[in-house]
Amino acid sequence: MTAWLLPSTVPQTILGIESSCDETAVALVARGRQVLASEVRSQVAEHAAWGGVVPEIAGRGHLQAIVPALESCLQTADCGPEQVDAIAVTCRPGLLGSLLVGLNAAKALAWAWRKPLIGVHHIEAHLYAALMGIEEWQFPYISLVVSGGHTNLFRSDSPLQHQRLGCTRDDAAGEALDKAAATLGLGYPGGPAIQKAGQDGDPQAFSFKRPMLSKDSLDFSFSGLKTALLYTLKGPGGKRSDPDRIGPERQADLCASFESAIVDTLAKKCLRACRQQEVPRLLIGGGVARNRRLRSCMEQIAAENDLQVHFAAPEHCTDNADMIAGLGHAYAEAGRFADLNLEAQPR
Ligand code: KG4
Ligand code: ZN
Repeated sequence: MTAWLLPSTVPQTILGIESSCDETAVALVARGRQVLASEVRSQVAEHAAWGGVVPEIAGRGHLQAIVPALESCLQTADCGPEQVDAIAVTCRPGLLGSLLVGLNAAKALAWAWRKPLIGVHHIEAHLYAALMGIEEWQFPYISLVVSGGHTNLFRSDSPLQHQRLGCTRDDAAGEALDKAAATLGLGYPGGPAIQKAGQDGDPQAFSFKRPMLSKDSLDFSFSGLKTALLYTLKGPGGKRSDPDRIGPERQADLCASFESAIVDTLAKKCLRACRQQEVPRLLIGGGVARNRRLRSCMEQIAAENDLQVHFAAPEHCTDNADMIAGLGHAYAEAGRFADLNLEAQPR
């Protein structure tokens, strides 16, 4: 590998780039923890009209946002290329057209500035976001990533070692919330919309089955809940085009009950994983980890069962580049550098 791609000392100040879905993000982070500057350009408004992320729109949005986001981040940190020690970029998983924009920007900078390049795994980065808030790490942890694209449980033995214990067999938790919000006419993204609509609702007003699968399973399945919501709203066997049978005065209860079914399922599986692995510490990251009901439910379960639970900071739950640059430091410490042939891997 070309010499400048393989540094002799561990890079300390890392420029992170994230573009795997619909946020273009750039951050400069020192020693894996200290955020010197952070930029997130969200495309939510462009996708909202379509009820979800449209890959073609996302790719074009990243192209428009990447250079201004980079310039603004470096300007905020008052930083030139000489202060950047390495460049970390999300290379998997994600939307191919979106990943390629961040990846090619990172390669171009690495080449032009003669800096080492680090290809980061997006899901590992969501877990690193939870680690960023912990003063002293105490591995192992049971870790949950809940986002629009992923619902995974791991046993984590280091920032780079995650053994998968379970995953969703159909919809991710965030995807289920997004689809439910679409059914309820609440718009996109669905998680925050359902949280808001249900904040004063009664979570027990409607009974939704908690999909626990078999007794020991750590997998998830949320697509049945989505159908249950549709039938509650439209009547048994109802279609989305059918009129609602439940009036707007009960929407708060319906949202609270649906959200609560998802949250309870996530919380129970986390507890099950902690017991099975005999690990009393939890990390929780990803967009859905912003959810207030999930946070309070997990905190209650943690208190009742003598567990420690560490959520990523709210601004580090949804996609951001702080977690990419942060995890990039752990990759650098492990000597995991890439070369300019680094490829985007959607899966
Ligand atoms: O991590 P993220 O930004 O992107 C992916 O990697 O998927 O997560 C986006 C997801 C969306 O499904 C959104 O509805 C959900 O996170 N989300 C929330 C909340 N904020 C974002 N879900 C529940 N409650 C929230 N407050
Ligand atoms: Zn994400």
